[in-house]
Amino acid sequence: MLSNLKPQPADKILQLMQFYREDPRETKIDLGVGVYKDATGHTPIMRAIKAAEKQLWDEETTKSYTALSGDPAFGAAMKAMVLGDSVDHARVGAIATPGGTGAVRQALELAKLVDPETTVWTSNPTWPNHVSIIKFMKLNHAEYAYFDEASCTVDFDAMMDSLKALKAGDVVLLHGCCHNPTGANLTLEQYGLVADLIAEKGATALVDIAYQGFGDGLEEDAAATRLLASKLPELLVASSCSKNFGIYRERTGCLMAISETAEQTPVTQGTLNYLNRQNYSFPPDHGARLVSMILTDEALKADWMAELEEVRLGMLGLRQQLADELKRLTNSDRFDFIARHRGMFSRIGASPEEVLKMREDFGIYMVGDSRMNIAGLNAETVPLLAAAIAKTCK
Ligand code: LMR
Repeated sequence: MLSNLKPQPADKILQLMQFYREDPRETKIDLGVGVYKDATGHTPIMRAIKAAEKQLWDEETTKSYTALSGDPAFGAAMKAMVLGDSVDHARVGAIATPGGTGAVRQALELAKLVDPETTVWTSNPTWPNHVSIIKFMKLNHAEYAYFDEASCTVDFDAMMDSLKALKAGDVVLLHGCCHNPTGANLTLEQYGLVADLIAEKGATALVDIAYQGFGDGLEEDAAATRLLASKLPELLVASSCSKNFGIYRERTGCLMAISETAEQTPVTQGTLNYLNRQNYSFPPDHGARLVSMILTDEALKADWMAELEEVRLGMLGLRQQLADELKRLTNSDRFDFIARHRGMFSRIGASPEEVLKMREDFGIYMVGDSRMNIAGLNAETVPLLAAAIAKTCK
């Protein structure tokens, strides 16, 4: 059997991590995978996570199974953090999943269960793994216009134009905040117009919110998801705790499915539980438990929010420094969008050849589509990157 296997294409983002590790140059700069790093290049464990782990070590008396949905306290805490009071929580089914990717996968499994012929729409561009998973699951895939390469901003008219082709039952994958890979985001008003169109067409929105707290703030970054939840009869929300709690390897995510009525919720919840059982049975608990401990403890939550805010403001500062430096070097406002983009990423509009040249000449590792991870920078490396961009990008 195994001899019949064919080599699979490497994931471009993960492959870049490998290339970076193998580069012996001390001056190399890693702007690849979406992992937060502090000014020393370290991905720290957040203070509240350490404190919760200590408490858990003292208090946990069993490692027996939780529930197929995961610990119900986690689902409740995630509903509160992501949805706030935009919707009656009795209408929301929730399952813990292995990371945000697990939540996206389970959302697509749910859509496939309802209609294997459904078409899933993603922004052009989107996180490459969205498309990879959709294709792997043999779902139909369509793209809506999103990014204007020349200005590095959202082309909203083109987006709305392509979404006019939506059909009833289609699934539209939207980024809740901090668009990956571009960093260019819809305004709240634009999200509202997208919601109206989705409702008019009878399609279903699936929000992937993987960077809540990295853009304009924890509440602000949830505003679009909450608007969609309040406007649409049904909504799927895939949320990740990997980045905002810094627990990447714990695989902590949550899929929320909002039904039109609370009467529908038991069947929706039962289906979510069933999907967990089919795919991996009980979801991972450790990260989810830490998250619910933090979100339900006033002191831990305050400390976590303060540290998350430090992380967010640090990235905003680096964005501004880079935009200023590029303004000075190019004597133009061409790269001003870097300060306006939000989240961990910016796509800067360099060609694949220019990206490769920056890697070869300066040891700068960004994804081939010119997505860079802002958190891979610090105050000392910003000028080096700016010089490389100014020298390389036509
Ligand atoms: C990214 O986009 O870099 C992250 O979401 C990590 C990943 O798994 O690709």
